[in-house]
Amino acid sequence: MTLQFPSYVKHARLRNWVQEMAELCKPDAVHWCDGSQEEYDQMCEALVQNGTFIRLNPQLRPNSFLARSDPSDVARMEDRTFICSLSKNEAGPTNNWMNPREMHKTLNKLFDGCMRGRTMYVIPFSMGPLGGSLSYIGVQLTDSLYVVVNMRIMTRMGRAVYDVLNGEGQFVPCMHSVGMPLEAGQKDIPWPCQKEAANKYIVHFPEERAIWSYGSGYGGNALLGKKCFALRIASNIAHDEGWLAEHMLIMGVKNPQGEKTYLAAAFPSACGKTNFAMIVPPKAFRDEGWEVTTVGDDIAWIKLGKDGQLYAINPEAGFFGVAPGTNTKTNPNAMKTIEKNTIFTNVALTPEGDVWWEGMGPAPAKAIDWQGQEWTPDSGKKAAHPNARFTAPASQCPSIDPEWENPNGVPIKAFVFGGRRSTVAPLVFQAFNWVYGVYYASTMGSEMTAAAFGKLGEVRRDPFAMLPFAGYHMAAYINHWLQFGRFIPEPPRIFLVNWFRKDADGNFLWPGFSENMRVLKWIVERARTRAAGLEMSLGRVPQYKDLDWRGLENFTEADFNKVMSIDNEMWKNEILSHEELFIKLYDRLPKELVSVRELLLSSLWRQPEWQDRDE
Ligand code: OXD
Ligand code: MN
Repeated sequence: MTLQFPSYVKHARLRNWVQEMAELCKPDAVHWCDGSQEEYDQMCEALVQNGTFIRLNPQLRPNSFLARSDPSDVARMEDRTFICSLSKNEAGPTNNWMNPREMHKTLNKLFDGCMRGRTMYVIPFSMGPLGGSLSYIGVQLTDSLYVVVNMRIMTRMGRAVYDVLNGEGQFVPCMHSVGMPLEAGQKDIPWPCQKEAANKYIVHFPEERAIWSYGSGYGGNALLGKKCFALRIASNIAHDEGWLAEHMLIMGVKNPQGEKTYLAAAFPSACGKTNFAMIVPPKAFRDEGWEVTTVGDDIAWIKLGKDGQLYAINPEAGFFGVAPGTNTKTNPNAMKTIEKNTIFTNVALTPEGDVWWEGMGPAPAKAIDWQGQEWTPDSGKKAAHPNARFTAPASQCPSIDPEWENPNGVPIKAFVFGGRRSTVAPLVFQAFNWVYGVYYASTMGSEMTAAAFGKLGEVRRDPFAMLPFAGYHMAAYINHWLQFGRFIPEPPRIFLVNWFRKDADGNFLWPGFSENMRVLKWIVERARTRAAGLEMSLGRVPQYKDLDWRGLENFTEADFNKVMSIDNEMWKNEILSHEELFIKLYDRLPKELVSVRELLLSSLWRQPEWQDRDE
């Protein structure tokens, strides 16, 4: 087929690539997305006609839609995610690898004719504000209209991207197909995909800076700007160019004096990252003038500015948040964000034509569950899939930071890392310095809340919360952080938090959610003033008197000491258990990590109480 190119698409390499891909995929038609509201509305209507979307009640949820995916296509698939670098060693031991030539052969076969009976959509998009010095451009080709409308919310998508790209600019080519061509006369289904896991491929070619995804229409597998580009490919670009592409939220904290401190925080999946990014401070803090604002909830691109400070942008334009558990108490800002112009995927539909999920509030007497079946509260199954999502524009978030679209980013003063640990890890501590911080971030662990990646409750080591997202050797990634720190005149302080500590009976020792503001205030004040603090074996810690307890007076000093307790024996075992990760990464593990480990072990090794010493 010979393509008709819109006159504003002047980029020769882009034209050639689209032509070549159209010849391979053999779609019935090619649509060049302009990104306009009109186009979006028409596409949503087409999705309604096709049965993929259900329009929600416009009185209750204006301009919002519900999609139900195929039950086989509900989440990211780490087993089917590949980093196809030229050499296996570049991908490292934590990524799936296949020889890129072999993988291209496989993909060429799969993509040959894969869009028959469908339209190929050309989606030009910018990760980061259009034309910003920290931004990068991608072009995704897809046969999924659901993907197009989600990409319009999640990225800056449309015609203006071609102006930035101009005649010869760089772009990341992103190929995507749901992998279900339609034979003549064959009727489409609401959620086409490849049902067998083995037939899904989410593939990255780091040296080519290219992404190919086949067989899935869901989330990070299909909205290729997100995890595939902004983390796996961007981490490669960042490594080569000397910056950081991170799985981090970005937030701003304003004190009553009006001084703003920005920080970036990494948490593995299922640790309440979106809730923390949109935290509403307790009343006593708000009354005094404390304010928290949101720059991003998932990804940060961070560069060193000429002034020696780090600057971060959120490359995304929307939130792709987990719905279950979100309510007006856990995340009132998210609830407001999704009041309109939102796409819901795999949540329940109420008889009034609104959405519902577990943990949203009182259950409706009946609903249609995420698989389209009748549901009642006693039907013994979940109404929403645990990984059900909302896709909503970041601009609708009441706590969105006024600088969130600043193309030069916001200055980062602190990094926060935290996993889900019912024991061992205290509520908060500050690493002694950058190298110690890198050690803790590299060895960060989180307990599994779903059996997807191991045994329930088992600790999965997730360095920098990047285990599924680092697009190259994890040890080289850790080394990149160490090298990067060497160029920063005053590196941001690094803090470790754990909102999930439990007592022996399994009760949470910390109330979490908005109360996390108390810890955040301590962090921000230390990041601003660079004050020293009580030095313990792991790092610097607050004492009870150092945190602001107004409005939480029933949380006693004894309670605080429990959630802060550091058990030397447990910590020795914890640090010894890091060996497993270190052995895995052995060939390229930075020597600093081995040294810090030794130092930590020796500082945890205590003589008997000094009173009991033999004279
Ligand atoms: C996500 C994740 O989906 O981190 O954002 O798993
Ligand atoms: Mn994430």
